Amino acid sequence: MLDKKLIGKYKVYLKENLSKKRYNHSVNVAGAALILARRYGCDEDRAYIAGLLHDCAKEFEISRQLELALQSDLDVCEIEKKAPPLYHAIAGSELVKTQFGITDKGIIHAIRYHTVACKDMPKLSQIVYLADLISEDRDYKDVKKMRKFAEQSLEKAMFEALRFSILDSAAKGNTIPVCTLEAYNDFALMTKNNT
Ligand SMILES: [Fe+2]
Ligand SMILES: [Fe+2]
Repeated sequence: MLDKKLIGKYKVYLKENLSKKRYNHSVNVAGAALILARRYGCDEDRAYIAGLLHDCAKEFEISRQLELALQSDLDVCEIEKKAPPLYHAIAGSELVKTQFGITDKGIIHAIRYHTVACKDMPKLSQIVYLADLISEDRDYKDVKKMRKFAEQSLEKAMFEALRFSILDSAAKGNTIPVCTLEAYNDFALMTKNNT
């Protein structure tokens, strides 16, 4: 059962530190994560909390995001260190420890990898990664397709999401973190073995 008082505390903090749009996005991602957790047999409360807090550091100054990110004891590759849009996920995973005393490694991991994914990705982290892509407020071209994949299979949805993300980054000439490529290989092998 979700601790309503705790969730209320998280929401107050998010309201104070995020724009209205990103606050709504956070609540929507929490809701989408809960539904995916229910569908795929994962802890619903933890999925909701990780979804709610995944972007908690997103609107901090970049210098503060980097400072927090560099405190992380989870691997941060050189490519990530050179990509400011990726800092907020690592920073957020640190912030939830200091700001809210969260020690749940699964929640911390899910926030840390919600933008880049990683190899051997735990189910909770997959759920938050996908919830971020299919939440109600998302309206990119293929969002309906992605929602359908997420209804069918977690692995298939992860594979398609990573395939899209890597193709898009390469088309723009952007760098791709090693952990993203490793995640892609994992899910490519998984989905190949299933067909
Ligand atoms: Fe994010
Ligand atoms: Fe997000």
